[in-house]
Amino acid sequence: MSDIRPFHRFARWYDLAMPTVDETPLREALGLAERPVRHGVDLAGGTGRAASGLQHVEWTVVDAARGMLTRARQRGLDTVQADAARLPFRAESVDAVVIVDALHHVADQDELVREASRVLRPGGVFVVADFDPDTVRGRVLTAAEHLIGFESTFRTPTSLAADVRRAGFSTLIPEGGFAYVVAGVKPSER
Ligand SMILES: C[S@@+](CC[C@H](N)C(=O)[O-])C[C@H]1O[C@@H](n2cnc3c(N)ncnc32)[C@H](O)[C@@H]1O
Repeated sequence: MSDIRPFHRFARWYDLAMPTVDETPLREALGLAERPVRHGVDLAGGTGRAASGLQHVEWTVVDAARGMLTRARQRGLDTVQADAARLPFRAESVDAVVIVDALHHVADQDELVREASRVLRPGGVFVVADFDPDTVRGRVLTAAEHLIGFESTFRTPTSLAADVRRAGFSTLIPEGGFAYVVAGVKPSER
C-alpha cells in the first residue's frame, strides 16, 4: 500500500497533470460483456478520471487514497475507500470491473483478479488498461516510477491475460502496444 500516500497528497493536482483517458478501447472492452452493464466498479479509480467519461453505467470508484476519492465525489461519483484487492462487495453484485493506469500500483495483483471474478455477475466483464514494460516507452516509464519511489510492478498484456484466463475468464487483448487493454468475460451460467 506504499503507493497510496503520494496520490492522497497530490490529489488536487492529479487531473491537471494527467492526460484525458482514451475511452474508445475501454468502451469496446465493456461491449464484450454478455449482460447489460448497469453497475460497474472502477478499481483504484482515483479521481474518477476514467469512470466519469464512461457514461450510461452507474460507477462506484474504489480507491485507497482518501484525497483522490474526494475529487471523484466532486464529480458526482459514488466512492468506497478500500484496497482494490479486498473488495467490500457481495459476490456476483456488479456487471463490470475496470482498472485504468493503476494495476501496476497494486501489491497483490493475483488477489485483485480473484476479487474481480468474485464480485462480477456471470457474463460480466473485467477490463484492465495498463502499460507494457516490454516496450521502449514502458521501460522508460518503469524506470521513472521507480526513480520517484513507486513500487510499481508492470505486467505485459500476455502474462496478465494468462493470469486472467487462469482465474476463469475468457480473455482478449482488444488493444496492444505500450498502452494496452486486457479484457476478461466471466462465463455465463448455462
Ligand atoms: C495512477 S492513479 C490512477 C487513477 C485512475 N484509475 C486514473 O486512471 O486516473 C493510481 C491510483 O491507484 C490507487 N491505488 C494504488 N494502490 C491501490 C490499492 N492497493 N487499492 C486501492 N487503490 C490503490 C492510488 O491511490 C491512485 O489513485
